[in-house]
Amino acid sequence: MRYEQHYAWSILLRLFHWSFALSIVVLVVTGFYIHFPWTNTLIEGETSFPVATMRYIHFIAGFVFTGAILARLYLLVFGNKQERFWDFLPVTPRNISNMFHTAKLYLYFTEEHRPRIGHNVLAGIIYIITFIMALIQMLAGFYMLYPESAAWQKWGLFFLGSQQQGRHLHFLIMWYFIIFAVAHIYIVIWNDIKTREGLISSIFNGTKYISSDNP
Ligand code: HEM
Ligand code: HEM
Repeated sequence: MRYEQHYAWSILLRLFHWSFALSIVVLVVTGFYIHFPWTNTLIEGETSFPVATMRYIHFIAGFVFTGAILARLYLLVFGNKQERFWDFLPVTPRNISNMFHTAKLYLYFTEEHRPRIGHNVLAGIIYIITFIMALIQMLAGFYMLYPESAAWQKWGLFFLGSQQQGRHLHFLIMWYFIIFAVAHIYIVIWNDIKTREGLISSIFNGTKYISSDNP
């Protein structure tokens, strides 16, 4: 079988991906610690400040996460063809057909893989949900971080309710990201083995290989 090389992901998208993925790992670990400090907190303020340090790392990672998601929102409209939202949402007959076909493939009802340079539409829908979750998580984070800011308090109260409700939602949405990450890594490895398109390396080098028998 012959394969053609295609440039799929810009440098900005790849930078987004890895800063988003790595910041989430840091945010989950430090977030768990903020929720339930698992070391002996009696030492806090004596010789070390574990809770304060974890919170500080959480906030730094929170800013990386925010920068990443803002870059992705820009790419949703101004990125290359594969990065724009209408390329991977079920808004055209071709995309709707891809969504049903991918569902069949993932349920093992068919073995036929229909190559695309960009995301398949099922993945695309989940990515958009993930970006919305990221925006809510960001709002809840800044709502807690800046109690003195009238603007964050106004928007936080309007969308999330009280500080305590916002904090609870922030904790629950963490579980969305944990489940997403596990399922995502499983699915990209599954696709990488099945399709031989260099999917995983594409998120490092930007390049995918599409069979020229199936343009
Ligand atoms: C995927 C992203 C994130 C995850 C998984 C996450 C997770 C968590 C968790 C589990 C908590 C503890 C909540 C509790 O007490 O029950 C927390 C607290 C907090 N997070 Fe996040 N967070 C994320 C993003 C952010 C962002 C973007 C910011 C903004 C800078 C932020 C700021 C905060 C603040 C201010 C607190 C409260 C700290 C405290 O009261 O000591 N978080 N986070
Ligand atoms: C070993 C770790 C990881 C690998 C190998 C990996 C690989 C990939 C690959 C190959 C894609 C493109 C798949 C497609 O075309 O649908 C992708 C997309 C994506 N990944 Fe990951 N990923 C990893 C970890 C993560 C983590 C931890 C997160 C966040 C929790 C994440 C979030 C995303 C998002 C949001 C996209 C969509 C990219 C976009 O268009 O914005 N990834 N990843």
